[in-house]
Amino acid sequence: MSKATVIAVDGPGGAGKGELTRRLASELGFKLLDSGAIYRVLAYAARKAGLALFDEDSLCQEAAVMDLSFEPTEKGVHVLLGGQDVSSAIRTEEAGVNASKVAQLPSVRKALLQRQRDFRQEPGLVADGRDMGTVVFPDAQVKIFLDAAAEVRAQRRVKQLQSAGKEADFELILSEIKERDERDRNRLIAPLKPADDAVVLDSSELGIDEVFARAMEIIKSRISI
Ligand code: DC
Repeated sequence: MSKATVIAVDGPGGAGKGELTRRLASELGFKLLDSGAIYRVLAYAARKAGLALFDEDSLCQEAAVMDLSFEPTEKGVHVLLGGQDVSSAIRTEEAGVNASKVAQLPSVRKALLQRQRDFRQEPGLVADGRDMGTVVFPDAQVKIFLDAAAEVRAQRRVKQLQSAGKEADFELILSEIKERDERDRNRLIAPLKPADDAVVLDSSELGIDEVFARAMEIIKSRISI
């Protein structure tokens, strides 16, 4: 029996994967996996439990038992931990850095593997992350690597924060982005890199409509929809 279609979208933080994968899932009527949210929730739960972010054994236990669920609403998908909405709490810069730290640990990644694979269901899945096409779904029918220059990603983040009425320091955000890229790209297990059979799409000079249109072209060239 052939497996349900997976469209894997990998790339660094801030390249626009979130917006792109939401649109693709909605256009195709596919399910959506935001794998970064899983790492973010684990780091958040660990912090709440007073665990150190390098305590691999305890983090693995937490990964195995944490009661995580995604709830689609009109305003987007809410992330629930033990029934509590943690969507905003896991979206801070600090939560991203903490997620990137726990994501370096090999046994933590292993403990979260099946949880991610369980999202593969008919009629198909759009999976957003760093290792969707390389490790979690190596047999994904479509693999896209969405990239963008660090400066462009930092500028986008500044705009996002400012439009939410928050303060944003470009230089600080840029250095955090570079530091997180460095950790995600150079870790020993499942480092951030395009799969050999991925199509690389650089969004530095493209708006979301154009990125979406190009991604749809790539998808149509690989699968019949
Ligand atoms: O996509 P994001 O910014 O929500 O991800 C947060 C961190 O989680 C990211 O810096 C690295 C880690 N991550 C990962 O290692 N593998 C994934 N598939 C998704 C995220």
